[in-house]
Amino acid sequence: MTRDTRPRRGQIPTLLTILTTSTLLTLSATQNSKRGIAYVGNPHVPDNALLTSTNTPLIWYYNWAPSPPREVPSANLEFVPLIHGLDEASSESTGRQLSNLPDSSRHLLSFNEPDGTTNSGGSSISPEDAAQSYIEHIVPMRNGNRAWKISQPSVTGSGNGLDWLRRFNESCYELDAENGCPADFIAAHWYGAFDGLASWLGTLDEFYNTNGSRGEGEGMKIWVTELALPQQDAQVTVQMMNLTLPYLDQLDYVERYAWFGAFRADDANEWTGDGVALFDDDGGLTELGALYMGDGFSEGQKGEGEGAAGQLLANWRMMLPPLLTAVWFSIY
Ligand SMILES: *[C@@H]1O[C@H](CO)[C@@H](O)[C@H](O)[C@H]1NC(C)=O
Ligand SMILES: *[C@@H]1O[C@H](CO)[C@@H](O)[C@H](O)[C@H]1NC(C)=O
Ligand SMILES: *[C@@H]1O[C@H](CO)[C@@H](O)[C@H](O)[C@H]1NC(C)=O
Repeated sequence: MTRDTRPRRGQIPTLLTILTTSTLLTLSATQNSKRGIAYVGNPHVPDNALLTSTNTPLIWYYNWAPSPPREVPSANLEFVPLIHGLDEASSESTGRQLSNLPDSSRHLLSFNEPDGTTNSGGSSISPEDAAQSYIEHIVPMRNGNRAWKISQPSVTGSGNGLDWLRRFNESCYELDAENGCPADFIAAHWYGAFDGLASWLGTLDEFYNTNGSRGEGEGMKIWVTELALPQQDAQVTVQMMNLTLPYLDQLDYVERYAWFGAFRADDANEWTGDGVALFDDDGGLTELGALYMGDGFSEGQKGEGEGAAGQLLANWRMMLPPLLTAVWFSIY
């Protein structure tokens, strides 16, 4: 997809730099892992058991909601709640759901693709309304008992997203000239080729950390919370992931990332295509899935347990966030 690879503002690391740094890296799967899953819902018990098995390299997961999905046994993984839009931010039940989470939950993701439309999984919020709600409802959680570490809203990986963030920041400072909208980390989405990903992360780092007003050593880290190469065949997708994982693992300003998605090929949405799936239709790891799970996992490997967990709990609305990005790229 050449439209994804067009250079953006921000530093574009050369392939040589990337390859050199990644070969220097010897990171064992479970030590200092940054890896997690963006969980859209998977009714197959064995798949979820494999993802959360004791030697999993995955350390965190989220499901675009303030409370965890029932079908994921989560003792080994940090659940990361997300406040999707204005309604969730102001609702009292969100506060209750957050306080019921285990102590291991410490990070909170704010507004999901506010520059995107609701029917593509976004929350469609104006920067002005988002700033007001963020200051009223989200900042207090940061300062509350659990001292949640809070992300900036996660925009689509696009020029629209960057414009939205600029306007959001302006509105924040209009409302609170001293603090703006304080946050602890940056959440980023990317659907596209590897070099576009590197460029987009460079742009966000430049926007917040180089150009932003934070002092030396106070830079925010990036979490890549949605990540995939849509609409490519399995082999091209494996190559993209094979470049991406070592790159993100060695990049200091990236703290965590999550591939989209942890589902079977059959359950992939039309926009991403089957190539992104970590499981094949029989519940075996795809080559991509084996690469994501790393050492000790192999293609075709299945998890333990039987059958499907009754009814599909997937929230299909969440399968759609890439749509907006697609629309944006096609009109660009
Ligand atoms: C950072 O600042 C430079 C210099 O003013 C500007 O050219 C660049 O576009 C800014 N980057 C972002 C991501 O806003
Ligand atoms: C947000 O706006 C403030 C006030 O104008 C400015 O100092 C700061 O650098 C901006 N931050 C970002 C990330 O653009
Ligand atoms: C990933 O890349 C390395 C070299 O950088 C290569 O040895 C390995 O076979 C590749 N793995 C896959 C699954 O493509």
